[in-house]
Amino acid sequence: MSRLTKAGLLITVFCGLIATVKSETVTINMGVEGKQISPDLVGIFFEDLSYAADGGLYAELIQNRSFDYSAADRPEWTPLTAWQLVQRGGAQGSVAIETAQPLNPNNSTYAVLTVENSGGGVGLYNDGFGGIAVKGGDRYEISLFASQLAGSAFPLNVRLETTAGALLAEARLPAPSARWKKASAVLVPASTDTKARLVVLAGGPGKVALDMISLFPGKTFHNRPNGLRADLAQVIADLKPKFMRFPGGCLVHGDGLDNIYQWKETIGPVEQRKPQPNIWRYHQSKGLGYFEYFQFCEDIGAKPLPVVAAGVCCQNSNFLVTRRYGVGQLGLPMEKMPAYVQDVLDLIEYANGPVTSIWGAKRAAAGHPKPFGLLYLGVGNEDKITSVFRERFEMIYKAVKMKHPEITVIGTVGPNPDGDDYVKGWKIANELSLPMVDEHGYKSPQWFWENLQRYDAYDRSKSKVYLGEWAAFDDKRRSTLRSAISEAAYLTGLERNADVVRFASYAPLLAKRDNTHWNPNLIYFTNTEVFPTINYHVQHLFSVNSGDTYLTTTVSGSATPVTFAASSVCDSKTGDLIIKLVNGANTPTPLRITLAGAKELSATATKTVLAGTNPMETDERIVRPQSSTMTIAPTFEYEAPANSLTLIRLKPRGIR
Ligand code: AHR
Repeated sequence: MSRLTKAGLLITVFCGLIATVKSETVTINMGVEGKQISPDLVGIFFEDLSYAADGGLYAELIQNRSFDYSAADRPEWTPLTAWQLVQRGGAQGSVAIETAQPLNPNNSTYAVLTVENSGGGVGLYNDGFGGIAVKGGDRYEISLFASQLAGSAFPLNVRLETTAGALLAEARLPAPSARWKKASAVLVPASTDTKARLVVLAGGPGKVALDMISLFPGKTFHNRPNGLRADLAQVIADLKPKFMRFPGGCLVHGDGLDNIYQWKETIGPVEQRKPQPNIWRYHQSKGLGYFEYFQFCEDIGAKPLPVVAAGVCCQNSNFLVTRRYGVGQLGLPMEKMPAYVQDVLDLIEYANGPVTSIWGAKRAAAGHPKPFGLLYLGVGNEDKITSVFRERFEMIYKAVKMKHPEITVIGTVGPNPDGDDYVKGWKIANELSLPMVDEHGYKSPQWFWENLQRYDAYDRSKSKVYLGEWAAFDDKRRSTLRSAISEAAYLTGLERNADVVRFASYAPLLAKRDNTHWNPNLIYFTNTEVFPTINYHVQHLFSVNSGDTYLTTTVSGSATPVTFAASSVCDSKTGDLIIKLVNGANTPTPLRITLAGAKELSATATKTVLAGTNPMETDERIVRPQSSTMTIAPTFEYEAPANSLTLIRLKPRGIR
């Protein structure tokens, strides 16, 4: 290449660069009163998919603790999945699954050890959900139900061992009696092991029945019994979510009518809860049930937002057989609807009723006499809007409205932010004057950028909106910086319209690495580690920097397609002004920001920036929020870094 051509190329590249540097002006109108918005915009969506509950947030360390796994959960599963027969030191014996004398009707299967020759013990080991992670010196509570069916009874030996069989901790449980009886002990492992096993050994000769073999860390979140995994729960609590949706998602309406989530089967002593197949093709122990959910909401200061099925099962039920989406919806037979409607009313009583009421008494018996303060109830989850759905939805809605006018019922408008179910769902909402509807939207980052104005046009006299499930799907459904920044941009639009959009929850919240049924998710985890995504930081920054008043924020700039978005809110509790600036361009964007109506303002503000040069970055350790201080004047310049979210938070003294 000649010198001349090289110089020409450099000039072209340089001019090209100049041409791509686009500036934006942002004007925040501080001179007039702002608009009241939802102070509860950012919350969380919890569903037991990708091992979010069992094997995840629910701290139980034993997999298949009550020998309930079956081919209905997953074709290759049996009641002995995750268990192995152990014959120590010349022992001889066998294990069988029996159903003749169960602990209770909800817990129909149990294991029977037949010890022919006791040797060093005949028993079972369980290696948890891909190994049991234990910490040296920590306390773990082992508990089980046992009954001696034949022969003389001997104490049971319970051990934590490494995969090589080295002893980590050991205890003895009393010899079983003829009737089912619970026994427990504390195990304190001598050292840390990420792949330990729990071994239960019986002596003999004889026959011993075992059920509900459970191992819990002593340290759960807020030290709750039957509690939640502390590190995972803490990362969720750190989000400071204003509300928490539960139990889903598709799990709510289930895979067929028999699989609809029945809240009454999730409360009371865990051994009496009714486990069932999980629509995501694994198993729900229901150990993390409605009591644990309400309690967690209280512990983290989130409003509960439960969702119940609208008397129909998921339209994608039976997919494995039909291989056709959207044709599996069935309605509960009409003669079963009154009982189902009553169940829904009973859930409200369980949450809020006095201790003298039937269900309030059950809440009190679980240790919480005080009501949980339920205010919202979702009915239906992105159902196909059919006459079968509508008939049942209306029955539930009208009954709740009549008996509990204090509860805001949230309807459903299908799985997409447009299309047939969306239109039909909104038609029902309009006809019934529903207080709120649940919209869902999983779309590309580009879609979110193109739809920043979506809610500007919503009719303020109609139902409010709960954006119950949303996330940007980037290439290969990864969580990228680009997807996170598009979500931040969309959140500025939600904030601007938070007089209509009352709640929004990114979905799904949790997924166990190597066990994902769905991507992307907000937080990934293994048995020992927690991996928030870059998208988590966006949700976190909006959640902890929410306000209750929106200040008109105008952006007039040059970028087409739109790559810049902004919003500003005031928080009346702190008096703070919070400005959010989102730059989706791959280059920095110079900004001129005017606080219109501000008088001689000179303030120090906190600036928090989430930014990265590679929009396809997926590693949260590389893109983390950085905070510093900056000086603010009524008009100031700021260069928003490439692919960034910037939050500027200040106490606006000197502003009219
Ligand atoms: O969030 C994952 C799934 O997406 C939910 O279960 C369902 O409601 C939606 O289709």
